[in-house]
Amino acid sequence: MAVERILAPLKTIPNHIQTIHDYEQQTSKHVTEKTWHYLQGGAMHELSVQENQFQFQNIQLIPRHLNDFTQAHTQLNLLGIDYPHPIFLAPIGHQALFHPQAEHATALAAELMQSNFVLSNFTNTDLRHLNKENPYKWFQLYWQSRETSLSLVKLAEQNLYKAIVITIDAPHSGIRDRERKVFFELPTQMQHPHTSSYFKKSQIQEGEHPIFHGLMKIAPKWEDIEWLVRHSSLPIILKGVLHSADAKKALECGVAGLIISNHGGRILDTTIPPLIALQNIRAIVPAGFPLLLDGGIRRGSDIFKAIALGANAVLIGRPYIYGLTTAGALGVAHVIRILKEEFEITMALMGTTNLNSINSDYIFQKTIVYR
Ligand SMILES: Cc1cc2nc3c(=O)[nH]c(=O)nc-3n(C[C@H](O)[C@H](O)[C@H](O)COP(=O)(O)O)c2cc1C
Repeated sequence: MAVERILAPLKTIPNHIQTIHDYEQQTSKHVTEKTWHYLQGGAMHELSVQENQFQFQNIQLIPRHLNDFTQAHTQLNLLGIDYPHPIFLAPIGHQALFHPQAEHATALAAELMQSNFVLSNFTNTDLRHLNKENPYKWFQLYWQSRETSLSLVKLAEQNLYKAIVITIDAPHSGIRDRERKVFFELPTQMQHPHTSSYFKKSQIQEGEHPIFHGLMKIAPKWEDIEWLVRHSSLPIILKGVLHSADAKKALECGVAGLIISNHGGRILDTTIPPLIALQNIRAIVPAGFPLLLDGGIRRGSDIFKAIALGANAVLIGRPYIYGLTTAGALGVAHVIRILKEEFEITMALMGTTNLNSINSDYIFQKTIVYR
């Protein structure tokens, strides 16, 4: 499938690209204006997009010194699996928009960097075509009726994915002004092997409400989550939880973990910042219950702050897409390496020798002053 691009992906990484911000700037040269707005945009005023990054600047570090680092590491065990570091790749749909090798390139880089990759339900690449032996892969599901959802979960089980992530914060698409203004649309010939035409089935009948009887009618309910937990041998993780009462409900349904996220600010504007929701939810779940965080992570010190406030691991979204667009698998691997190295150096400078030793004693939260 040919997707219009401006500048071809790079084969080597020039020296001026050293940070996620450099990758972001480079990306604008490789994509069309429409794709750029699709990637960067958020809901309405995009206050949550901005706040996601601002939330980290609001937290200051209190380093400690003179610790022995000879045994230091960044490993974690999550849901019975050992991961060498806590930087995971969030589900991002339609990656053929960004690079001809799409999810193949991302998966290759993720495997090389031992980064856990969450493959989106809106993938352009069949989930069966990623390396079956790679242990660092989860599958993200957008609910599509019990029968279709379960068949996808079974396919993921057979192909050795290690967990299912159900995204629950987007039962309806967000109001993304930027996309509307540039008439963004997915190419008609784009392949989506795991969504078929299900979402088109939500077409409303005469007299029905376009929203409440449209996509909302086919969105999952708590009973569906509970049902899927019972029918899957894989751990089920809910993505997009921000309210403590929903976290409690998820636990009652037997969910194995939560991703605290506002979908990168793309669905509902002015949500509570994920870092604040993380603290609220950490306070009410049992000790050790897996909580992951995404939204706005652009530096290794952001990862440190998320872990200090209760995250077991973090996911990055747009940053690795900047890498993919700029230089395919090489770019994704480089983005992960940049963040991993920044995180390791932050740990060394903070005096924390492993993830368990990172806690809220090491941070100071400034009072927010809104301008
Ligand atoms: C272009 C784009 C596509 C996305 N597609 C999906 C998706 O298919 N499924 C999903 O659960 N989240 C999706 N997300 C949200 C990401 O998984 C993640 O929550 C978000 O990007 C994190 O914020 P960050 O981009 O600031 O790191 C998408 C985000 C972007 C930017």
